Amino acid sequence: MGNGSNDILEFVARVFLAPGFNAVFSRHAFAVYPLVSMAVGAKLNIADANALDADMPFGHNLQQMREQVDKDTKVIFIANPNNPTGTWLDENSLESFIVDIPDNIIIVLDEAYVEYVSEPGYPDSIPWITKYPNLIVTRTFSKVYGLAGLRIGYSVSHPEVADLLNRVRQPFNTNSLAQAAALAALDDQGHLQKSIESNDAGLLQVANAFQDMSIEYIPSVGNFISFKTALSGEVVYENMLKAGVIIRPISNYGLVDYLRITIGSKDQNARFIDILKQMPGVVA
Ligand SMILES: Cc1ncc(COP(=O)(O)O)c(C=O)c1O
Repeated sequence: MGNGSNDILEFVARVFLAPGFNAVFSRHAFAVYPLVSMAVGAKLNIADANALDADMPFGHNLQQMREQVDKDTKVIFIANPNNPTGTWLDENSLESFIVDIPDNIIIVLDEAYVEYVSEPGYPDSIPWITKYPNLIVTRTFSKVYGLAGLRIGYSVSHPEVADLLNRVRQPFNTNSLAQAAALAALDDQGHLQKSIESNDAGLLQVANAFQDMSIEYIPSVGNFISFKTALSGEVVYENMLKAGVIIRPISNYGLVDYLRITIGSKDQNARFIDILKQMPGVVA
């Protein structure tokens, strides 16, 4: 268990990375991978992502990731789906990639948004743990379960890997309130279904609005969607903020002038869309 799945990403870095070793991950991948790797002095081997005109624009490119693996690689981070692109990897390509990686390299499959994905071909990764002892799957109660503030996540791995992670884990990392809430959340299938349905409808609502306005966006299977307007990302961010809507510019992810909006309720999404429509210069 981790104080959020973020905590587990840190355990991984502290156990398996050190100066002289490197971590492989994709460009535009979740920002915590470079942070935890740099914090322990490891090198970052960053793979090029898919091009804008690919089927899955800006998604992880497993071939490029494979090419970044060298004799000093100790950890590979894969976000499936990825934040902030909302792109995902299918079962066949992902398993072929895992099979091809030497088993002394840890593969972290970060599934923070797993519950939102209904795409055919999306992997059921937990059974892979028995086949691939170098695989760690991380998940969280922060997203679909809505418990981000309580900080609770977990990983599933080979027992010997879990044992190593537990050696660096603070003994009091998760609190009893968060554990009680997580257990209750697992029993609350109604809430889970409602959150998924609301997110599906919201993704469609926002993507349709982008299409109507000819705004470029990255098709997403997460609970967020990233887009780019004719204005600079900072200007859109500031204008939204003044109108009381907080979205996030993601230039720091190498996605210059893109912004990410988290899917809200129907009314919240509509409010965002209205403000965007009224913003001068948004559409080229
Ligand atoms: C891809 C991904 N992994 C992990 C996390 C960490 O979430 P938490 O520490 O709340 O479980 C996030 C949070 O934004 C994320 O986007």
